[in-house]
Amino acid sequence: MRISQDILDRFNSGFQQAERNGVIEPTAMVLATAHQSQISCRTVLLKGLDGRGFVFYTNLTSRKGLQLVHNPQAALTFLWREIQQQVLVEGKVEKVSDQEADAYFARRSRGSQIGAWASKQSQVMAKPGDLSARVAEYEKRFEGESVSRPSHWSGFRVVPDMVEFWYGQDCRLHDRFRYQWQDDGWDMVRLYP
Ligand SMILES: Cc1cc2nc3c(=O)[nH]c(=O)nc-3n(C[C@H](O)[C@H](O)[C@H](O)COP(=O)(O)O)c2cc1C
Repeated sequence: MRISQDILDRFNSGFQQAERNGVIEPTAMVLATAHQSQISCRTVLLKGLDGRGFVFYTNLTSRKGLQLVHNPQAALTFLWREIQQQVLVEGKVEKVSDQEADAYFARRSRGSQIGAWASKQSQVMAKPGDLSARVAEYEKRFEGESVSRPSHWSGFRVVPDMVEFWYGQDCRLHDRFRYQWQDDGWDMVRLYP
């Protein structure tokens, strides 16, 4: 297991506090990816976290998907503004297993499953109505049967080598705890705000 219990406990404690204090979508995280010198970011939802890493699901042929295939490195930012906390994650990215992706896909609503087939995520749409036409096409294709997971849709796991917890304090004298992976374990240091 890559992530220590200490890190998991800190994350889960912040997450539960965020849920209790009305943070909308505490699973939302900004995902940064890079292709050569071009860096891009967007929001995705955390769909799994355990000792192996942080998991999200997406279209593998999307802009982020292609970037991650070519450069399997990513950074994540969780902002839980209402409780003045931020969590940063950096690390390597790997695809989840087909079994894991199948299991998650099977739990999604049928509408979201059809959407995964219909959306050519990140590609140019020639005209309005093309997406709903594709939705209708796949609803017909899967009529009366369960929707299988498209091979272009799966999950990525960010396996961290850095996790930083930021706790807002008065006068901007914030607390920062940075965990850094060092070959065989985690070092934790405090950083100036
Ligand atoms: C709150 C929120 C949650 C999102 N969750 C996801 C997600 O889990 N997976 C995903 O592929 N896109 C998600 N999106 C859409 C992405 O931000 C993005 O528009 C899309 O994935 C295409 O990104 P790309 O062109 O950089 O690949 C979400 C957007 C928002 C605002």
